[in-house]
Amino acid sequence: MQVEFFQLNNSHAAAIAELESEAFSVPWSLNQILSELSGTFSVCVGVRIADKTIGYCFARALGTETEILRVAVLRAEQNRGVGEQLMRYVLTAAYAPEFYLECREGNAKARRLYERLGFVSGGVRKNYYESPTESGIIYKLSI
Ligand SMILES: CC(C)(COP(=O)(O)OP(=O)(O)OC[C@H]1O[C@@H](n2cnc3c(N)ncnc32)[C@H](O)[C@@H]1OP(=O)(O)O)[C@@H](O)C(=O)NCCC(=O)NCCS
Repeated sequence: MQVEFFQLNNSHAAAIAELESEAFSVPWSLNQILSELSGTFSVCVGVRIADKTIGYCFARALGTETEILRVAVLRAEQNRGVGEQLMRYVLTAAYAPEFYLECREGNAKARRLYERLGFVSGGVRKNYYESPTESGIIYKLSI
């Protein structure tokens, strides 16, 4: 699928908030999104088709480490490779060679995506998530 990547700014915050609400049981608020967009170490990438934002990734790059905080694709556009393209874009932009992220244990689809990209599990955070309570798997990738 032909998609375009772009740098997110405040003008995209409302669209991201909508995607957050669809994608996560505990979505980031508009204020959290705006705060992340203005963070010194923030990496904020959107993906669109024509003018429609269909996905995004938020990360923080600190020294040699990049932490992936959020990644989501509009449900109607999932299962077409957009999530993988988005992740590959963020990884190859090489914000830092070490990547970390955390994922709900039961989020099999996201876990398959990360493992396809080479992330390896580096531990479990027991009952880290709420709504519902669930453990988190810590993933790491060195490129
Ligand atoms: C996780 C997430 C970002 C993946 O996005 P996506 O765009 O669906 O990802 P992809 O399309 O690259 O891969 C998803 C599946 O579609 C398959 N696929 C990719 N292109 C395809 C195509 N052209 N035809 C059919 N299937 C395809 C992939 O093989 C993959 O299959 P799998 O689930 O059996 O491994 C998305 O599900 C999402 O936003 N989830 C909600 C938020 C979330 O959980 N984020 C992660 C938090 S840790």
